[in-house]
Amino acid sequence: MLQFKNKIPFIEGTSLHDVINVCQTPFYVYSQDIITQKVEMTKKILGKNIFFSVKSNSNQAILKIMQSLNIGADVVSVGELKRSLSAGFHPSKIIFEGVGKSKDDLVFAIQKNIRLINTESLEEIKLLQKLATEKNKTIDIGVRLNPNIDGGTISKISTGKKTDKFGIDINEIENIINLVSNCNNLNLIGISCHIGSQISNIDVYKNTFIEMKKVADKFVSAGINIQHVDLGGGFHVKYNKNDPEFEIKDIKKELDRCFGKSSYEISFEPGRYLIAEAGILVTSIINTKQNGGINYLIVDAGMNTLVRPAMYNAYHDIETIKNITDNSVSYTVAGPICESSDIFIKNVLLSEQSIGDILIIKNTGAYGKVMSSTYNTRPLPSEILINKENFAIIYSSDKIEKNIEEDIIPSWL
Ligand SMILES: Cc1ncc(COP(=O)(O)O)c(C=O)c1O
Repeated sequence: MLQFKNKIPFIEGTSLHDVINVCQTPFYVYSQDIITQKVEMTKKILGKNIFFSVKSNSNQAILKIMQSLNIGADVVSVGELKRSLSAGFHPSKIIFEGVGKSKDDLVFAIQKNIRLINTESLEEIKLLQKLATEKNKTIDIGVRLNPNIDGGTISKISTGKKTDKFGIDINEIENIINLVSNCNNLNLIGISCHIGSQISNIDVYKNTFIEMKKVADKFVSAGINIQHVDLGGGFHVKYNKNDPEFEIKDIKKELDRCFGKSSYEISFEPGRYLIAEAGILVTSIINTKQNGGINYLIVDAGMNTLVRPAMYNAYHDIETIKNITDNSVSYTVAGPICESSDIFIKNVLLSEQSIGDILIIKNTGAYGKVMSSTYNTRPLPSEILINKENFAIIYSSDKIEKNIEEDIIPSWL
């Protein structure tokens, strides 16, 4: 994403130094051009029914870009639903799923007439029928199924195995059919699944498509008019040069082979694939030290800013913007948080660094800011959007004093 012109780092037509001059590190930067390219390419290959998984990056400026590129939104909480509406998504382009929707969440979604509420249990279907009757409405629903397929990724991001908490067991289809046949206020028009994230193995997609096709056929033969088959997200992003190659063109081949020309629309819900490579995290070195022979660079971003390395052992490349051709010192880059797991990378070769230098943590557009916290009473990171020669602060980090003021000390203390 960074390009050097006369040793000056640029994102699109904007010098990173100009951003650093007005925004305090750590902050995320996104390139509108990269987002646009990714979305257009995905639509070109997989068709127009793409629903951006809002959980991966829910900043409203990002959502506005997605909406203006004419894709939909896939939300997993009522908060994400409200954000998507506020960013301008038409309700008919929003899918609401999630394993734990409260009654109030469902009532809100029903009132908004969104495209689909994807139910994740038989109990939720019953509750929806009750709510729809009370509101004297007929509502379109989908069911998220659990096809018992192992995505082959780390267990913390697997969602499609029988024992995972997500979706309705694929063996419950008869029960779903019987239940919805007796729910006069519900139209079951969609089925969906999501196996997990970071899936590179084409066989996993192939097996998922085969299972979902069988299920769609079963519903259709039971007289249920399935209009949407949603095959989830999870497309792999190459974070590390040793990661497997992955091309969505290969998914398309399996898709055509399995579904051919069907009577229903096929859709996908990618998050990471559309936004991860369009973002970087910019951080400053606040301390350097040697412990046990390790050269530590302590930066001002921590696991509170980007939790993926600490939470999933996720790999993010780190680069410097100083002496970029002289990468000869081995460093371990750590955050300031009081936790041993607050390490971004070990043994990365960089040019010699000192306090005040800037480091770039790459491919952090997805599951970065959205998962940040104020742990250790530190502020949330700001976010910047770049569009050619222009940039805008799209989230301005609050002063930590505001966070402190939000605590309420009871009168008896
Ligand atoms: C239901 C659902 N759909 C889509 C996604 C997007 O996944 P990814 O960002 O890996 O494409 C997720 C994330 O896990 C999800 O839970």
